[in-house]
Amino acid sequence: MSEMLKIVDLHAEAGGREILKGVNLTVEEGETCVLFGPNGSGKSTLLSTIMGYSTCKVTSGQILFKGKDISSLSIDERARMGIGMMMQRPPNIFGVKLGDLVKAASKDEGVLGNAELFKMEGFLDRDINVGFSGGEIKRSELLQLTAQKPEFILLDEPESGVDLENIDLIGGKIKDLLYEHAGPVSVQRHVSSLIITHTGQVLDYVGADRGYIMKNGRIQCAGRPSDLLKHIKQNGYGECDACQAKTIQ
Ligand SMILES: Nc1ncnc2c1ncn2[C@@H]1O[C@H](COP(=O)(O)OP(=O)(O)O)[C@@H](O)[C@H]1O
Ligand SMILES: [Mg+2]
Repeated sequence: MSEMLKIVDLHAEAGGREILKGVNLTVEEGETCVLFGPNGSGKSTLLSTIMGYSTCKVTSGQILFKGKDISSLSIDERARMGIGMMMQRPPNIFGVKLGDLVKAASKDEGVLGNAELFKMEGFLDRDINVGFSGGEIKRSELLQLTAQKPEFILLDEPESGVDLENIDLIGGKIKDLLYEHAGPVSVQRHVSSLIITHTGQVLDYVGADRGYIMKNGRIQCAGRPSDLLKHIKQNGYGECDACQAKTIQ
């Protein structure tokens, strides 16, 4: 396996404050990694920094994607290289119809046909996220990602705010994205991902290979996702005895 993403001693600021304080993390090709950590530890900032959102400024360190340092590339250049992201709280986009964005994200003429698979066929003419419920926002984000067909997928708490009925659909679609794409022709791919989860619910749908725990802007430890989750449920984030390495900094 080769490294899809390698983050080396990454420091980054948001709102003029240092949030990422020396992050080291690797995702191999085809690997599904999960990222745990208490609120405010910097998880969303890490994903936004990898994607290239302008709110996050890299001050030192490297973000290597397929061996190339992407830290100075624009968000659209990163998307063209094959990185896609599902945000924790995506913004309302007034004046842009969901169907137009889905078409723009895909080379496939028939891409809007996928909307039915996500129960989003009634939303294609609506402004993106405006008035959408929690579950509808997540389904919309996944429809967009499926159109984009990224090779490396960042998912920020995909199950948060989703009811029990929707969780099955969303979990199944995430599995499709990671293992093979939904649509008329399913293509086997080497998709890699980094998924933030608090509850671990997404692990019921995708078999994760490696887990990381982030605390205070750093990766504190890595280990088997199920071991880490069990430990967190029992002990909180105070200690990380279940880790393969106490610290990998
Ligand atoms: N744009 C921003 N401006 C100011 N502070 C920010 C900004 N983005 C994130 N932060 C702060 O960075 C810290 C980490 O946030 P976040 O990455 O969202 O944490 P997590 O996803 O782990 O809950 C929080 O204290 C948050 O308020
Ligand atoms: Mg977050």
